[in-house]
Amino acid sequence: MELMMRNMFQSLGKSRAANRLAKKYGLRFGAARFVAGETIQQSINAVRGLNQDGRVATLDHLGEFVFSEEEALESAAMCIQTLDAIAESGVRSNLSLKMTSLGLDISRELCVSSMKRILDRARMHGNFVRIDMEDYAHCQVSLDIYRELRQEYDNVGIVIQAYLFRTLKDIDDLHELGANLRLVKGAYKESPEVAFPEKSAVDENYKVIIQKHLLNGHYTAVASHDEAIINFTKQFVSENNIGKDQFEFQMLYGICEDLQKQLVKEGYRVRIYVPYGVDWFGYFMRRLAERPANVWFVLKNMFK
Ligand code: FDA
Repeated sequence: MELMMRNMFQSLGKSRAANRLAKKYGLRFGAARFVAGETIQQSINAVRGLNQDGRVATLDHLGEFVFSEEEALESAAMCIQTLDAIAESGVRSNLSLKMTSLGLDISRELCVSSMKRILDRARMHGNFVRIDMEDYAHCQVSLDIYRELRQEYDNVGIVIQAYLFRTLKDIDDLHELGANLRLVKGAYKESPEVAFPEKSAVDENYKVIIQKHLLNGHYTAVASHDEAIINFTKQFVSENNIGKDQFEFQMLYGICEDLQKQLVKEGYRVRIYVPYGVDWFGYFMRRLAERPANVWFVLKNMFK
């Protein structure tokens, strides 16, 4: 049953028609728990709230379903506006983005040239941009583009997913680049030919890559709500004298708030991924797929 629901939410999240319909209704059915708002101003207000109790943020303008060059350029313009809004408001946040929203599926050149404009603007503001990792079909090209960008920019990082078989080799390859990595379990539905199907194997691989990247001496964002993974990281850094300035914990907006605040109290850097924008549907569906129990929360909101 749980697997069926996961598959259903993952498929729905990819549906353009469902996205269009959801857009009409605005942030409803509990989506506001996971998405900070539809406008930049709402997202900046949310980040200000997080900053007040010591959490920093990474803002993501949700721009899924980009099919034309025009939409891709609009999405890049929103990234730049977000960087400007962060600088103007003085909130403590960097930016996360998905390269498909910059037109990666339309033209690699278009995507790279937008990435460069975004990174130039981030550099001007002294800020940093993280490239989210999408499904397996985009993994190699994302890493290739990251490698290309690193020749010119040091204010860019990328994400590595523990569920992929290739991941350990990717960590090795990224070592020479001194890559700033966000390490995650992985959120997409992947074939057992490329990814571990069992959760326990993903968790084990996750621990291995956390250790490896930290021992390689590079900045590591451990992005997970899993307390076992968080406790493992705490113990590992303490046993290996790894300073609190070499890593951070990251969590998603609206998930495990108490744990987020507890980690701040303990003196760890905690960054919250704050998504915003009108294209919130795909993101919302991925959050439901991760934890089908969230569906009760949605139903409660529908009948409120
Ligand atoms: P796990 O799924 O084992 O969950 C541990 C506990 O966390 C659960 O028992 C529950 O309490 C809580 N929890 C987890 N998900 C929840 C949810 N949706 N709702 C409510 N509670 C939940 N993936 C990817 O493929 N590419 C990317 O770029 C990113 N980027 C990213 C950034 C940040 C900051 C985070 C935290 C995560 C991502 N992810 C991601 C998503 C990641 O791959 C993964 O799907 C989720 O983080 C869920 O896995 P956990 O590590 O939290 O563990």
